[in-house]
Amino acid sequence: MVSITEGKHAHFFIDFAWEKDGHIRSYRLGLEEVFEGKYLETLYVPHPGQAFLLVGCGKEKELGLLEVKEILAAAASKCREWKVKECSVDISRFVDALGRDAVTQSVLGLELGSYSYSFSGKEEEGAPCRFQLERVNGLEDMEGLLAEAEELVRGIRFARDMVNTPGNHLRPMDFDRRITGFVQDVEIEAQTLVYGQLRAMGMEALYGIGGSSEYPPCLLILRYRGNPESEEVYGLIGKGVTCDTGGYCLKGSKSMAGIKGDMAGAAAVAGAMHAAAAAKLKVNVTACLPLCENRISQSAFLPGDVITGYGGKTIEILNTDAEGRLVLSDAVSYGIREENITRIVDIATLTGAVWNALGYTIAGAMSDDDSFYRMFEKGLVHSAEKYLRFPFGREHRKMIQSDVADVKNTGADCCGTITAGLFIREFCEGKPWIHLDIAGTAWCDTPSYAFESKGATGAGMTSLYFMLKEAAFLQGKA
Ligand code: BES
Ligand code: MN
Ligand code: ZN
Repeated sequence: MVSITEGKHAHFFIDFAWEKDGHIRSYRLGLEEVFEGKYLETLYVPHPGQAFLLVGCGKEKELGLLEVKEILAAAASKCREWKVKECSVDISRFVDALGRDAVTQSVLGLELGSYSYSFSGKEEEGAPCRFQLERVNGLEDMEGLLAEAEELVRGIRFARDMVNTPGNHLRPMDFDRRITGFVQDVEIEAQTLVYGQLRAMGMEALYGIGGSSEYPPCLLILRYRGNPESEEVYGLIGKGVTCDTGGYCLKGSKSMAGIKGDMAGAAAVAGAMHAAAAAKLKVNVTACLPLCENRISQSAFLPGDVITGYGGKTIEILNTDAEGRLVLSDAVSYGIREENITRIVDIATLTGAVWNALGYTIAGAMSDDDSFYRMFEKGLVHSAEKYLRFPFGREHRKMIQSDVADVKNTGADCCGTITAGLFIREFCEGKPWIHLDIAGTAWCDTPSYAFESKGATGAGMTSLYFMLKEAAFLQGKA
């Protein structure tokens, strides 16, 4: 919980110190003897009437938005550990250095530093710490920034909660209900196409994969119209595989850990759309979320099967564990043909290969439209998430050419991230496309940053939001 106050009110506050810098206010306590201001170093300083927590910020010139978020998260974790009830924070140094975004990242840090998931839902004892942001002189509309950041926090928490929920408590239709419930308080229209409809409409990729489970698949469509005058509709396509066993190409038992998190893309989209609608962004967005399980049954696909996707393309299935691209392809085709989406962003925990290449903190990206990707990159400046854009060429397209069908669902022994992305692009019908592979970043066993906790990270959610905000800004200028 974060609010804005004029000056310090709480008896406890957070103070910041830079490495080799005299920001430590209370020299007479001899703090510089014991505290070097190293990045994320913390020290509790008891002081008559007003105790404080000193947090090291490292070298001033190494400070970026990600660091601000992490510094505040580290501080919040300490407050939680010590059961602090109320705490003042002066973030003006960060705002001076990095501008308005520092407020957003501070709020994210304070709120996420105290996130944890527990299935039994048991709360921490006592009330959570109330953080009071001291008003920053000369900063306009700090309330607005706080409100926006709180919506981002809600989105991330929602995404994390969904990904952390055990698979047996989040079947595709459960996930559908959770998202539909979550977006109810904003101007978003939700529609669900159920299994029978998917079959009747011919979405063989989606109903075929999803039909492998007794818990049926569905396609959840979310529509937000923030700019009715515009024809532009951003299509957000998020992978929502609530459990991925691999199907007949069964995963090894080691690779089964975390299979419940294969719906992180859809969760991120739901969070971002909610935040976009709450902020009343002047942009049109339609999300198409294929929700399903990937299991083994009599009707489940076998390697060698050929199917026809919703857009009419035939697909040779060579690996049933490459199911994400299949269900996404039908969602993309549906979005283009039935929802008139004009631009496509797909986001998915798609390949183990992206984790091999980039690890836990950098996600993979691809795009066939430079100006569209630049818009996404502008959003990244605000979200402080890391993406690496992979190039691609004709040689990679060749890798997914099938002898018997239009396309096949696996590539060669190399560049698995690129061929997975290009498979989806085959269904984009020439529309500007961005592809985000968050298989490495959506989940962590050991947190890389203080604002993460074991399990889901909420990856992609804020970057999608800031891309939409950038889109709204550009449309407003046009
Ligand atoms: N959901 C997985 C990708 C994944 C792997 C996500 C590890 C998170 C952690 C995806 O459906 C998958 O199984 N991909 C295969 C593709 C391969 C069979 C071409 C993979 O990456 O191994
Ligand atoms: Mn798979
Ligand atoms: Zn998967």
